[in-house]
Amino acid sequence: MSLLELHDVSVGFPIRSGVIIERTVGTVRAVDGVSLSVERGTTYGLVGESGCGKTTLGRAVLRLVDVTSGRVTFDGTDLDGLSTERMRRLRRRMQMVFQDPLGSLDPRQNVESLLTEGLEVHGIGTDRAQRRAVITETLERVGLSARALSRYPHEFSGGQRQRIGIARALVLEPDLIICDEPVSALDVSVQAQVLNLLAELQSDFGLTYLVIAHDLAVVRHVSDVIGVMYLGGLVEEAGSNELYTEPLHPYTRSLLSAVPVPDPQVEDSREQILLSGDLPSPADPPSGCRFHTRCPWRQPVRCDTERPPLREIAPGHRVACHYAEEIRAGTVQPRYGDRVPAPGDTP
Ligand SMILES: Nc1ncnc2c1ncn2[C@@H]1O[C@H](COP(=O)(O)OP(=O)(O)O)[C@@H](O)[C@H]1O
Ligand code: SF4
Ligand SMILES: [Mg+2]
Repeated sequence: MSLLELHDVSVGFPIRSGVIIERTVGTVRAVDGVSLSVERGTTYGLVGESGCGKTTLGRAVLRLVDVTSGRVTFDGTDLDGLSTERMRRLRRRMQMVFQDPLGSLDPRQNVESLLTEGLEVHGIGTDRAQRRAVITETLERVGLSARALSRYPHEFSGGQRQRIGIARALVLEPDLIICDEPVSALDVSVQAQVLNLLAELQSDFGLTYLVIAHDLAVVRHVSDVIGVMYLGGLVEEAGSNELYTEPLHPYTRSLLSAVPVPDPQVEDSREQILLSGDLPSPADPPSGCRFHTRCPWRQPVRCDTERPPLREIAPGHRVACHYAEEIRAGTVQPRYGDRVPAPGDTP
């Protein structure tokens, strides 16, 4: 049994309008029918460009936003309809690490008080001395010393603040940590250190991660499985090596083609896919395949009218594209030049 399972989960936000009498005029489909599972002790990387619904999905798992439809199960327990008390107990086992440690850590609280909060909420430790011992041990585990206890968030560097954010999650001994853009706010030189720390903690404590990032390079090295989201839906999912060596969905291909390769020879010959058009609004998503307005491989009629389901086309490799097999075999060719013609392309 997987630790975390999502079955056809959707989250919609009402769009309100009207000054005197407010009314709902539509819905932003932030997450639209996502099914995925995260195995215990592994890392699931969720990628996609800004606004595709990654954070909302993470928040839906933690019940920080309401799930409009679908089901989330954690360690075999359906989170829907749980009593407040049972949910509180389960919540300790699912923690979140945020993108912006400064924004998510109260500047008026010192580190000891920031980390004590969760322990108190969940009734861990009997007195201050005992809690302080647990906190100190956790701080050391993430590479900070006991001296950090009495200091405030602004006194730390970005990387250290993220270590505090990780310690705040870790001190509750969770099973699952949802890391939402854990290194996006950090200098490139610090990013690897924080990712390495997460990997170490995973092997020491058997943690399960859902790592959210807009940057494929970030999730590549830490993920066992990667899911790619576009406009609220999962468009491709595969083991991390397979996703990089054999991306099948046109959107995944375009994301990968935007990542520069250090070898100049490979760089010159690699496929570069330029997407036409802007990211459509999740309040008014395109019909049929959500990606059809930007897809160089789109085929008339079917792509515009029929939404492709996520289907397994190799063991552990799921793709939501009507033409995945044809694209792989090269029998359906991309059409470049809707907006940005590539050299040598016939119009
Ligand atoms: N609380 C909210 N109310 C209304 N719309 C929201 C809310 N949170 C997110 N959205 C919208 O949902 C979509 C997905 O947002 P988000 O989950 O933050 O994406 P990501 O994390 O991938 O950048 C966006 O269009 C965003 O504007
Ligand atoms: S279904 Fe059509 S539009 Fe969608 S990704 Fe596949 S080829 Fe492109
Ligand atoms: Mg986000």
